[in-house]
Amino acid sequence: MNKKIKWGILSTANIGTGQVIPAMQKGQFTEIVAIASRNLSKAKETADQLGILKAYGSYEELLADISVDAIYIPLPNHLHVEWSIKCLEAGKHVLCEKPIALNADDVKKLIDTRDKTGKKISEAFMVRSHPQWLKALDLVNKGELGEIKAVQGFFSYFNNDSANIRNVEEYGGGSLWDIGCYPINTSRFIFNEMPRRVVAITENDPEFNVDRLASAILDFPSGQAVFTSATQLSPYQRMSIFGTKKHMEIEIPFNSPIDKPTRIFINDTVTRDEERTVVELNACDQYTHQGDNFSQAIINDSEVPLPLEDSLINTATIKAIFESAKTGQWVNISI
Ligand SMILES: NC(=O)c1ccc[n+]([C@@H]2O[C@H](COP(=O)([O-])OP(=O)(O)OC[C@H]3O[C@@H](n4cnc5c(N)ncnc54)[C@H](OP(=O)(O)O)[C@@H]3O)[C@@H](O)[C@H]2O)c1
Repeated sequence: MNKKIKWGILSTANIGTGQVIPAMQKGQFTEIVAIASRNLSKAKETADQLGILKAYGSYEELLADISVDAIYIPLPNHLHVEWSIKCLEAGKHVLCEKPIALNADDVKKLIDTRDKTGKKISEAFMVRSHPQWLKALDLVNKGELGEIKAVQGFFSYFNNDSANIRNVEEYGGGSLWDIGCYPINTSRFIFNEMPRRVVAITENDPEFNVDRLASAILDFPSGQAVFTSATQLSPYQRMSIFGTKKHMEIEIPFNSPIDKPTRIFINDTVTRDEERTVVELNACDQYTHQGDNFSQAIINDSEVPLPLEDSLINTATIKAIFESAKTGQWVNISI
């Protein structure tokens, strides 16, 4: 039998209980052994529902559990850095939800703590473990589309609940931190470059004072990416990649369902049927892949799927987008 990494879960967050925990319970290299909440009865109830052995009524107790190898952190955005550092210093490996930090200096602090403690840490951009994105990159790298010159992305949903963490300014709310981070991350993945500069426009919700609509252009050395993210629009998501020979679209790029095959359309908009291709990949759960990939990096002492150096570029890009939206100017990205 495979060695399994023993995971603890920090909080009863919806993303954990609804998706990531059930997915990791199916993993080959992951075992969920404990969950912590600020409220013991909530922790116990969740542990019972999900079949988790241990429940703690404080986050500190989970960090002190010597049977736990690694901790998954799905806290509100403003708590990611503080608790990632505490977990690393408690000797735990860390998989922290996106955005792992709200400024580049904090990512540098995490890098220092990682290097000091020797523990592994990664931002939970689950899409980077999804076979459909690995396939898309493979097609790009094989030159299937020719030279990649443009990437276009869109990600939106409707949520105007004032109590939701996404609508709380001091928690790091807004569309860019919550979902704009995905088209940025995947555009960078496809270009395999760091954007040089960005220009952007945002619209804030007048009550919440967080961006509810954001559009940006990212200037890469090889081409251009544009995207829109929005928290008060009808739900939609799509990523399109344009090369000199062909174009391709990832049908459901970020929240692909676990019970249906995923599809990549190549040349979908051309008029001749014989030039169109649909690449279909088996149904899978990207959160299971994410947990297994990270756990294997621990077991084999190899590089994590998404090192903090990648998070540093993503975080710096989002900050530059905010600055451009404020000043109306192009902003260079420096890390
Ligand atoms: N990768 C993805 O697909 C994905 C999808 C959705 C969300 N996320 C990320 O996951 C994180 C959590 O999102 P979510 O929607 O699942 O959050 P959520 O349901 O609101 O849960 C957040 C949890 O954090 C704990 N918490 C500690 N301090 C808190 C505070 N001051 N206010 C509110 N909650 C506090 C609470 O757990 P206890 O009461 O148990 O302590 C709460 O249940 C975010 O960073 C988000 O960006 C990622």
